[in-house]
Amino acid sequence: MRHLSVPSAQTQHWLEICRSHKWSSKDAGITRLEDGYNAIPLNDSAPPADDQIWEGNSHFELEIQPKGPTHWLEHIDDELFKAHEEEWPRSYETQGDVLIVKIEDTIWEYGEMIADAMLTQLPSIRLVCADLGVHGEFRVRKLHPLASRDGSLETRTRVREHGSLLWVDPSAAYFSSRLSNERIETLATAKRLRERLGRGLVIADPYAGVGPSMGVLIPEPGLITGYFVGDLNPHATELLSLNMEYFSSRRKGESGTLPEQFQPAEIHCKDALEWTGDGSTLNQCDLILVNLPHHSIDHLNALLPLLKRNQTSVVRGWAIIERSQIEASEQDIVHTISSAGGEVEHFTFREVKGFSSTKSYMCFEAWINLSS
Ligand SMILES: C[S@@+](CC[C@H](N)C(=O)[O-])C[C@H]1O[C@@H](n2cnc3c(N)ncnc32)[C@H](O)[C@@H]1O
Repeated sequence: MRHLSVPSAQTQHWLEICRSHKWSSKDAGITRLEDGYNAIPLNDSAPPADDQIWEGNSHFELEIQPKGPTHWLEHIDDELFKAHEEEWPRSYETQGDVLIVKIEDTIWEYGEMIADAMLTQLPSIRLVCADLGVHGEFRVRKLHPLASRDGSLETRTRVREHGSLLWVDPSAAYFSSRLSNERIETLATAKRLRERLGRGLVIADPYAGVGPSMGVLIPEPGLITGYFVGDLNPHATELLSLNMEYFSSRRKGESGTLPEQFQPAEIHCKDALEWTGDGSTLNQCDLILVNLPHHSIDHLNALLPLLKRNQTSVVRGWAIIERSQIEASEQDIVHTISSAGGEVEHFTFREVKGFSSTKSYMCFEAWINLSS
C-alpha cells in the first residue's frame, strides 16, 4: 500500500490534510519508521507522489498486515455466536487489570470461553471474573473467576483516577468509577470553601471506601490540613490506609515548600454513626462527605456535630431516592440542619445523571453555619 513518509513532528499536520481530502486509507494505521519518520497510508484517490501538494515528502510502498479482530466477540466461533446472538455480554467493567462481566444463565457454560476471548483481545487484562451481584451491607460484589492470564486469582489491583493510583479490590470493597466526576466537583467545592475560610481545611469522609475522594483532595497543595477518614468494612479500611499513605507521599506544599504534617490524621474502621461518641471528633471539621446513598439523609443528624461551629462549613452527600420523594427529601435535609442549630447559607440538590432510571441518584450540598 502506498504511504506518505513525513517527519514524526509533522504527522498530525499531514494526517489532517490527508483526512480532510479523504486521501488516507482506513485499512492500515500509521507506521513508525526509523530516523524519526512516520508513514501515513494513502488510498487510490491521493494525488501522485510528484504532486506539489506533498511538499517534497517521499512516497513508498509498504506491505501492511491485515487488521486483527477489534472486539473480543470476533474470537468466538461464528456458529456459536449466531446461536446465542442476543445473549453475549455487550458491556463489562474493568478495575485495573481485573475485568468484571455479567453472564446470562443461558450462556454460563461458555463463561471460560468468553473469558479466554477477552484475555486474547485485551492485553491489559489479567483476570476475568463473572459478576454474581452486590451483597451485604458493604455493597461488595460476589465474583467468580473465569480465566486468568498468569494463573493468579488475586482481585486486589490498582486503578488510575485523576492522576492518582488507587488500590481497589472489587471482591472486598466498594469502588465505582461512575462517581469520578463527582470527585472533581468535590475538589471544586473544597477549593471554594478554602477561599472563603482563608485557610486549609479539615475534612471528614466517614464512608470513604478505598478513598477515591481523598485521591483528588489530598494532593492539592494547601487544600487539606487534616482529616478523619474511615469505613465500616475492614477490607476497605485496609486499602484506604494504603491509599492515604500513597496520596500523602505525593503531596506538595504551596509554592514548592515541604507540606505541613496533617493534623489530625485519623483513619477509623468504625460505624459512622458512632464517630462522635467519644467526643474527640466533635466540632473538628470544615467539610463532611456523606456517601452512603441509601442512608445518607438518615445519618446526617449524627454527623453534623463533626462540623466546626460559628463559621461556614459544608456538608456534601449523595442519596438514592424515589423520584416522587425529591422535594420531601430536600425538606428533610434542610430540616435536619436547622434542628441541629444550623443556618443554611446555600443549598443545592441536583441529580447525578447516568444511574438508575426508576430512582434518582442525587447530590446535596449545604453551606451552613452552626451556632454554638
Ligand atoms: C457507596 S460506598 C462509597 C465509598 C466511597 N466514598 C466511594 O465513593 O467510592 C459506601 C461505603 O460506606 C461503607 N459503610 C456502610 N455502612 C457504613 C457505616 N455505618 N459506617 C461507615 N461506613 C459504612 C461501605 O463499606 C462502603 O465502602
